[in-house]
Amino acid sequence: MQFFLDSANLTEIKESLAWGVIAGVTTNPTLLSREDSAFELLAREICTLMQGSPVSLEVLATTTDAMVEEALKLAALAPNVVVKIPMGGEGLKAVSRLRREEKRVPCNVTLIFSVSQALLAARAGAAYISPFIGRLDDIGWDGVGLVEEIVAVFRRQALDTPVIAASIRHPVHVQRVAAAGAHIATVPFSVLQQMAAHPLTSQGVARFLADWTRRQGEGRP
Ligand code: G3P
Repeated sequence: MQFFLDSANLTEIKESLAWGVIAGVTTNPTLLSREDSAFELLAREICTLMQGSPVSLEVLATTTDAMVEEALKLAALAPNVVVKIPMGGEGLKAVSRLRREEKRVPCNVTLIFSVSQALLAARAGAAYISPFIGRLDDIGWDGVGLVEEIVAVFRRQALDTPVIAASIRHPVHVQRVAAAGAHIATVPFSVLQQMAAHPLTSQGVARFLADWTRRQGEGRP
């Protein structure tokens, strides 16, 4: 399973890249609304930082024609743009048209909450599909269970659309979607930090340092 960073924050993206663990970035209008920079400038900078790895930018339009027009503008920002299209009839038509464009525009169909939606998005030609697991958990459903089902159904149906587990809230989500066979998990930076940390690791480092400092205090070479 690959990791994408679910963020539009340049500091977080640079730090995650330096860790050597991310293979892409996903954004959404909420994440972008938290940043001060002008949208196009920020989007281009993220795409440059990611050096050819996929960067998802979402359309705000709600009708097919407007989605396609917006998607083409987003795709023109950089060669590694993947256009995020919300699930639904208008979105499916947009995905289907964009895949047939002369210069094919890869789409990440977002806001997927059922296996049926995942199947339709894959058949329409999505380059990725994004089930939102945290938001399903929020309403008392089983978000990880949905990822498990989609991965199993896609395997059985020989659909090769990569599944991005999105709306990840904590490291256990990441572990469980990896076990479920998700191809990608898009993870907020705070969750990446939680994944890297463990109290026994911090305690271990502190103890090694204390033992070595004591030894040096005893004047031993
Ligand atoms: O990638 C989609 C994700 O950002 C949504 O996360 O936490 O707003 O449900 P959340």
